[in-house]
Amino acid sequence: PGEPVNKITRSVREELGPLLDQVRSDDTVRAMVLISGKAGSFIAGADIDEFVALRSRDEALALIEDGQSLLSKFADLGKPTVAAIDGACLGGGLEAALACTYRIATDDPKTRIGLPEVQLGILPAAGGCQRLPRLIGLRRALDLILTGKQLPGKRARRYGIVDELVHPAILRMAANKAAQRLADGWRPRRGRGGLTDLALEKNPLGRKVVFSTARKQVRKRTGGHYPAPLAALRAVAHGLAHGVQAGLDMEAAEFAELAVGDVSRKLVQIFFATTALKKDSGVEGDAPPPKEIANLGIVGAGFMGAAIGGVAVSQAGVDVRFRDTDLQAVGRGLSASRKILQDRLKRRRIARPEYRRLERLLSGDTGWGGFGRADLVIEAVFEDIDIKHRVFRDIEAHTREDCVLASNTSTIPIARIAEGVEHPERIIGMHFFSPVEKMPLLEVIVTDTTADWVTATCVRFGQKQGKTVIVVNDGTGFYTSRIIAPYTTEAMWMLDEGVAIDAIDNAMTDWGFPVGPVLLSDEVGIDVGAKIAPIMVAAFGERMAAPPALEAVAKDDRLGRKNGRGFYLYEKGKRQGPDESIYQLIGSNTRRVIPKDVIQRRCSLVMINEAVRCLEEGVLRSARDGDIGAVFGLGYPPFRGGPFHTIDRLGADTVVAQLERLEEKHGERFKPAKLLKKHAKTGKPFSE
Ligand code: 3HC
Repeated sequence: PGEPVNKITRSVREELGPLLDQVRSDDTVRAMVLISGKAGSFIAGADIDEFVALRSRDEALALIEDGQSLLSKFADLGKPTVAAIDGACLGGGLEAALACTYRIATDDPKTRIGLPEVQLGILPAAGGCQRLPRLIGLRRALDLILTGKQLPGKRARRYGIVDELVHPAILRMAANKAAQRLADGWRPRRGRGGLTDLALEKNPLGRKVVFSTARKQVRKRTGGHYPAPLAALRAVAHGLAHGVQAGLDMEAAEFAELAVGDVSRKLVQIFFATTALKKDSGVEGDAPPPKEIANLGIVGAGFMGAAIGGVAVSQAGVDVRFRDTDLQAVGRGLSASRKILQDRLKRRRIARPEYRRLERLLSGDTGWGGFGRADLVIEAVFEDIDIKHRVFRDIEAHTREDCVLASNTSTIPIARIAEGVEHPERIIGMHFFSPVEKMPLLEVIVTDTTADWVTATCVRFGQKQGKTVIVVNDGTGFYTSRIIAPYTTEAMWMLDEGVAIDAIDNAMTDWGFPVGPVLLSDEVGIDVGAKIAPIMVAAFGERMAAPPALEAVAKDDRLGRKNGRGFYLYEKGKRQGPDESIYQLIGSNTRRVIPKDVIQRRCSLVMINEAVRCLEEGVLRSARDGDIGAVFGLGYPPFRGGPFHTIDRLGADTVVAQLERLEEKHGERFKPAKLLKKHAKTGKPFSE
């Protein structure tokens, strides 16, 4: 009671255990329904706060054995049980439902069913690795357990996890009815997976194939950095080979190792930081109420503008009006944003009538018609300050006085963009990341003059679209572009020294980044990088400078992936190996080998050090935002928790010592930030 979600806490275990014993021994009780008193929330899982408090493997073991014995009471009640699911049914919540005889879920969009444990660096350890494969077949179960994906009610029904799907209004009634029928001896008939699944899974050899394929996929996806999915695979395999109890014992043993391990600790911190950001208005103290956004104007229907519009219409259901200088560009933008909707339709995230309704909300023109209605306008034109000045003057002239004016620039300070406008208090930065439909971060940039209601409105609008939003103070490159710049530049220095393209990229993907820094330059666009570089040097000095030899690459009509000419070779849009002609182009003709760990240290520390400067200068409001921004915006390895957690793990004094050694060898760009030195002296961690 009093909590926003139901979780399996110590007090729940202590209260529910004896209650279940009572139900078991009471002959007048013929069946039981497990239903939540909170509308829209079934059980969100075990209490994650309890994991944080765990100090040792033994404590973790005791905790999980406690949870397992509670859920075994459901399974061994000796009478039928029905789980009535509305809202989140996750982790231990689904494991409780799996221990019941029958499951009914609602078709409400809030209903999400899954085992997200691996995303917290642990495994389903209260029977999930045993009961799910037995219910829906091995391959489907592994798909859920190893990825942590969450299913809406309808898909959970198709997977065979739930037996019945109903409207929330009749959930209780339907559950009571099912309990009654089960008490009268009726049993549901269930299929289990497809024919091929059965043929494969029934014999030990077939299972071996399934497990070895899954193991290979996990290794490829996790790069060996995340132990939880492999532990889950072991627990599933052991249970299928030796029975449920042996499987449960294995689940518990694996949980005890993982729950107190470093990876889980970092992933749990990311969960809590993300949850805290959901409630953050982005404004210190009492925030004014955010303005509701119903009409969105987008100026510049290019790649980013179109994607921002498509996501806004599909996630927030707002009316989107594009404006571009020629009709063809408007048309291309409209089709690109419609494609995002079509993709949701194809994935059955929305039904056709909803698709039609949303599609009609997209429109565009070369004029300013419709902008008078806009509550928010996002500018997504070329990164050129003169063009932006012109565009903002035009936007101001064609919009209402209470319209929020945002720029999607990734580098130009918002205060510079705001020069010359009449109402700088309405100007703000909304830095979306590409691909907008997939990237979870929105970086909101405020200037000294941005009004609080404008900040609160943009933060809320981002959250409504499912984004994790960090608010940062204005400055060149803000936070994310500022810290990624020295990271890719360092890779360029190594190229200049003769290190091979793939040696650099492989070292950084081994460190945990999804793509290496050289490939990232191709993806972002070498022309974009070349445009940003002088802006960064002008703002921060020589430490941001790239090797002069690199100019030859930009001059050689190499734009990266988009024109199929970059640091890598492309054939029909598909990336091949590194383009060795680059070495000649930059005059680096002999290859030099630098040990992998040195490449990793140089690229990562230069980025981490810049992150500390952002905190020192007040660009970042907190180390927490710096960690979340890097993980969700730049693909910084989540198991490292973000740049600030990386420092805390290594020790600020060690980081300073490593930076000083690099500074001696390579110069000023490795000079440790003042704040880092301060932490090295005091020993105080950055994260609370
Ligand atoms: N443990 C502890 N606290 C939890 C929690 C959990 N499992 N789930 C949610 N909460 C807390 C949040 O921290 C937040 O707390 P606050 O109000 O003090 O900040 C509050 O509940 C509300 O959560 P949200 O703001 O996230 O509410 P939403 O409605 O946006 O989302 C949710 C609800 C979908 C349930 C989301 O909170 C969520 O995904 N929770 C985590 C689910 C999960 O990972 N479960 C697995 C746990 S591990 C497990 O069960 C192990 C087992 O195998 C033994």
